[in-house]
Amino acid sequence: MKTVNINQARELLLKGEVVAIPTETVYGLAGWIYSEEGLRKIFSTKERPFFDPLIVHIDSIEKAKNLTTDWTIVHNVLASACWPGPLTLIAKKHESINSLITAGLDSVGLRCPRHEMTLKLLASIDGGLAAPSANKFGKTSPSQADHVFEEFGDDVSILDGGACEVGIESTVVGIEKNQDQWKVLIYRPGHYTAQTLQKILDDNNIKASVEYAESPVAPGQLKHHYMPNIPLVIVGENFNWDQSRSLIENKLSQTIKTPIMWKISTDPRIASRELYQDLRRFSQHGHDLILIKRVSSQNTDEWLGIWNRLNKAKTFEISDSLTLLE
Ligand code: TXA
Ligand code: MG
Repeated sequence: MKTVNINQARELLLKGEVVAIPTETVYGLAGWIYSEEGLRKIFSTKERPFFDPLIVHIDSIEKAKNLTTDWTIVHNVLASACWPGPLTLIAKKHESINSLITAGLDSVGLRCPRHEMTLKLLASIDGGLAAPSANKFGKTSPSQADHVFEEFGDDVSILDGGACEVGIESTVVGIEKNQDQWKVLIYRPGHYTAQTLQKILDDNNIKASVEYAESPVAPGQLKHHYMPNIPLVIVGENFNWDQSRSLIENKLSQTIKTPIMWKISTDPRIASRELYQDLRRFSQHGHDLILIKRVSSQNTDEWLGIWNRLNKAKTFEISDSLTLLE
């Protein structure tokens, strides 16, 4: 594994190289926002299509303001309460932001990650670092330096900051205003839930509603994403292998020999921390199918980020009545 220290990471980034950086959510594949070469390398290394916009990482609200043109009171209140932390705020982009980062959109996603090493790195450079998750496009995100090495080998230098504490990507929000009423739209669920953001806004006397929504502009939220190397099938709470086996094998066109029933933690914070690590581990441990039960008690706000990832990582889903749900 090619590891670097903060100074070496900085030198590489300023030269137009990419470096994997630790954050509290997942490892990012970073390029300096003012290096077109570095930005291009993010896309080529990940095999990521250009239509999927990147998140810019900064170490202060000041820098976020300098990179945007409509930083509102709502941006400020949410950033003050949640940064450094797993919240990405979308705002109109400053003209200095390369359109490779925004996929040609006029807005940019910004976040200040909660990781000491990456904050030091960010403080040492102008502007910020564009960084998508450090995995091949569509695959499981990396929550440890080893995972980045599994994805890219020695092609990518890694700033090793240990295991990621949150484990799933940041909550992404857009902010709109209709007359006097603010609207905070959650495009990607994560650690910060609608309830938590609503409380922050209420406590700051801001009249706003927080809702989950599809991003109207960023088609980055594809149906299949985060996929492990072996199939993942979501099943009902009363799942029975003998009854379901032929349906699953037919649908996968494969005989299953070593399935594993995945039991995630009942604590959503631990479940999210272990999510991607488990997904990777099962295929390495010789399993040929991962099964997970859709548990009705997990149909709550705090589980939304986790189930959003599972729904996209799945190959398909079957109900207890053996109905196939794509
Ligand atoms: O936790 C995270 O956010 C991690 C770490 C590395 O910071 N990064 C991450 O980046 O998840 P990525 O590229 O996997 O996710 C970026 C997503 C896009 O797919 C899109 O959904 C949303 O963020 N996004 C970025 N810019 C946007 C914009 N201008 N408008 C709407 N959505 C945007
Ligand atoms: Mg990603």
